[in-house]
This record gives sequence, structure tokens and C-alpha cells, in this order.
Amino acid sequence: MSLFARKNIDDLQADAFSEGEHSLKRELGVGNLISLGIGAIIGTGIFVLTGTAAAQHAGPAIMLAFVLAGIACVFAGLCYAEFAAMIPIAGSAYTYGYATLGEIVAWIIGWDLILEYLFGAATVAAGWSGYVNSILRDIGIDLGPAWTNAPGHLVQTPGTNSWVRHTDELAQSLAAQGIDINTLPQANGMFNIVAALGIFAVTVLLVLGIKESARFNNVAVAIKLAVVGAFILAGGYYVLTHWSQSIDHWTPFIPANTGPRQFGWDGIVAAGGVIFFAYIGFDAVSTTAQEAKNPQRDMPIGILGSLLICTLLYIIVSGIMTAIVDYPALNVAEPIAVAIEATGYSALAKLIKVGAIAGLTSVMLVMLMSQPRIFFAMSRDGLLPPIFSRLHPRFRTPHISSAMTGLACAALAGLYDVSTLGHLVSIGTLLAFVIVCGGVWYLRVKEPNRPRPFKTPLVPLVPILGMVTCIFLMSRLPREAWERLVIWLAIGMVIYFLYGRRHSVVQRLHRQAHDVEPPRPTYTSGDSR
Ligand code: ALA
Repeated sequence: MSLFARKNIDDLQADAFSEGEHSLKRELGVGNLISLGIGAIIGTGIFVLTGTAAAQHAGPAIMLAFVLAGIACVFAGLCYAEFAAMIPIAGSAYTYGYATLGEIVAWIIGWDLILEYLFGAATVAAGWSGYVNSILRDIGIDLGPAWTNAPGHLVQTPGTNSWVRHTDELAQSLAAQGIDINTLPQANGMFNIVAALGIFAVTVLLVLGIKESARFNNVAVAIKLAVVGAFILAGGYYVLTHWSQSIDHWTPFIPANTGPRQFGWDGIVAAGGVIFFAYIGFDAVSTTAQEAKNPQRDMPIGILGSLLICTLLYIIVSGIMTAIVDYPALNVAEPIAVAIEATGYSALAKLIKVGAIAGLTSVMLVMLMSQPRIFFAMSRDGLLPPIFSRLHPRFRTPHISSAMTGLACAALAGLYDVSTLGHLVSIGTLLAFVIVCGGVWYLRVKEPNRPRPFKTPLVPLVPILGMVTCIFLMSRLPREAWERLVIWLAIGMVIYFLYGRRHSVVQRLHRQAHDVEPPRPTYTSGDSR
């Protein structure tokens, strides 16, 4: 049995276009797909991480960090678009791996994508709970620190009523401001119930149906875009009417390097690694390929359209933010709201919190929608138990798989905070991108004449650049992220050899093909042999 057994692309295409009660429903048009993409992309990255990335790593050159990470994603996005149009199937990168590089690589990608989607949704839920708690406090409901935070030692940030994790870096940065961390109120986190409940609510919606989920997502995306648009208009107006102050804040555009990962070009690249998280999600569009009405045309538009729109928005928003506020002041969890406060349009700051909650909800929704669809594909292939591909008879959603995903995700969201999970999500996603870029190149060499509704331009240059930029960003992530990735992949290998390899449909077909004896030649009577 070959570890590199491949799936036949013709069979995959036939499967992708089969209709019936065992297939997912084709409901999504191009608008839905772009909306799903934007739903998955704009979230924690811009609403939470941009501020610290600017304050600690890049300064106003955070715009260049967004360009850098955006370029890596456009290369990968072009490769995803070729595959998603050619093999429009729910398994996304997992299936592309199966069709090109073989079963073991497919398994590695499938297992790795759990980091992107399931762990990703948990990361976003932890950020989401921060905004929800903040709004609850605004209206006089304080749930206290124990049940609104992951387990761990907490301190109350000076001048606010929000709680953060007690870390050495926090102690040092407070000491630099003349504050002894031990003099601040302390508490212990137990379990983040708010984050877990957020995941639970999104899971219920997903079980009810793809159409209902897509509709809810459209509304959440509309609110999120309206808020980002309002920020650009109000912030842009402020920048234009306070031009010399803005130029002051942008000067120097690239602050001088002050140590490893701190400003200068090294800082820009470090910021690129951090805010790469902001782009994660465009590939989630490809997991809904079996639910798209016209996937061959609409998949590339959905993937690349949502990616380009978000790249542009990120560059503009981060530029405005660093023009309004001097970058050291952006070391906060809600940088966009802080920037708007600084303009004096305070009512807008409250609206931005609501927009952030809508935005983060839609990210959780799309990620939790994508995960069961990958499990669905892996289970159909025998690499996971059949329960993962069972569909609800009426809703035609993978309801059991969605519920199990939701439970696991809620537990993670309750137990871990944003920073613990975030780097692991980024490194896992980058690894998937590297393999997809490699797969496009490989298949062009192996099957150059296969019809491709969308062709990645300049192959092999674009896939190579995609791999190089993604590996470069991976190399900038902390060592613990690499260690956790290796442990996660090792657990995956154990499961593959204990279960997947034995139940694999492709392996079974290979075995059967080899067990059947070749037909004996038939001889006509009178043959002398
Ligand atoms: N790109 C998504 C976010 O920023 C994951 O939250």
C-alpha cells in the first residue's frame, strides 16, 4: 500500500457535481462567496492585533507589514483559485493534496487545517469575549474576571476595569511606566464562559442550515463593513483636516530599529508575521465549493475578490489609524476605537465596538462552517469515522460533525487565551498554503493538459514565490509555535496509522485492484497450446 496513493481527479470532479440527498446543497452565488470570504477575513487581526503590531514592531510602517503579508496571501490565493475551480469540493486544500501529492500529504493538510479552523475560531472567540464583556460593562453588567477569562493569573490594567494575563513582558512594560505590577488588583481566571457560549450559539446556527448561516453572515458582514467604512470616512476626514499633525505622526515612517523584532525592517517583517492572522480565512471560501451554484467561475472571484478588498481596507485603515494617533499609544486591545476617540467622534467609538462584535462573530461562523466540511471530506475518504459525514435528513448539514466541532472549540475557547492559540493558528495555516502552492506547480508538470477553468499566472514563479514568502513568515514565528506544530502533527500521524490508513477508501481500492487476478487469456478450440 502506498502512502502516496492519489485520488483520481476525474472521480473527484464527478463527485463534486453529483446531486442528491447525500450531497451538500448548492445555494451560494458569487455575492455570498465574497461575503463569506470577507466574513472570514476581517476580524481579530484588524480589530485587535493591529494596534500592538504597530506599537511594538512597525510603527506607521504597519502599512508595509500589511502589504508584505497581503502579497504572500495573494500568491497563495491564486493557487487556491486554480484548485478550487478545477476540483470544487468541500475538502479544499485537503482534497487538492490528495489529488496531487498523495494520501499522507492529504492527511497532514487535513489534520493541519484543524489548527486553522477549529483553533482559529477558538482564538477569535477569546477576542470576541473581550469586546462583549466591554459592552456588558458599559451597560452596567460586570461578570467579574473568573468566568470571563481562561485559567491563569490575571491583573487589572491600570485605569480600566478590564483584566489581562499576568506575564513577564507586561510586568516589564508597566515597570517602564513606573508601575509595580504587584500593586494592581489580582485575580484567577477559571473558564471563559462568554467565549464558549459565543461558539455554542454559532454552532446552533450552523446546524440549522447553510442558507440560514449565509444569511446571518451577510448581515454581520454588512455591519462590519459599514463600521470599517465609517472609520475610513470619519478618520480620513480628520486626517485631511489635520494634515500637518498626521505627517508628524507618520514621521519617521519606518522608526529606527531598537532591538530584535522592534522597528526598522526587522520590525516590519515581525509585524507581518503577527498580522498575517488578519488575512486568514480567504481560503475558507474554497470549503464551500460544493455548495456554490457555479463554482468554476465563482470560486476564483470569491477567493481573490474577498482577499483584494480586505488587503486594500487593511492598508487604508492602518494608515489612518497611525496618522490620527502616535503609534506608541496604540498598544491596546481596541486600537480602532481608541483612534476614533482621539478624533472626538466618541459616539462612533461605541458603534465600532458593536461592529467589532459583528465582525468577529462572522469570522467564527465561517471558520466553524469550514471545519466540519473538511471533516466531511476526510470521512467520505475513510480517513475519519463515518459519523463525520452524516448529514441531517432535512437540513442537509453535517450536523453531528458541526456539533462535535462546536463542543471541542467551545472547550478550547474557554480554556486558552488569544495569544496562546494565535501563533499556532498562523503557523498551521502557512503550512497549508505552502503545500497548496507546491501542489499547483506539481500538477502543472504532471498533468499539463488537464482543463483548468482558472489558471494561476506565471507558474512556476507564482507558486514558488508563494512558498518562499509563507516559509519566510513561518520562520518569523516564535519557537513555541514550531514546537506545538510538530507535536500536533505527530499526534496526527499516530491517528493516521491507527485508523485512517486501515480504513482509507483509496487504499482499499488499491488493494482490490491488486488482489484481483488478471483475466486469463481465452483460447479458441484447436489452439495447440
Ligand atoms: N482573519 C481572521 C481575523 O482577523 C482570522 O480574525
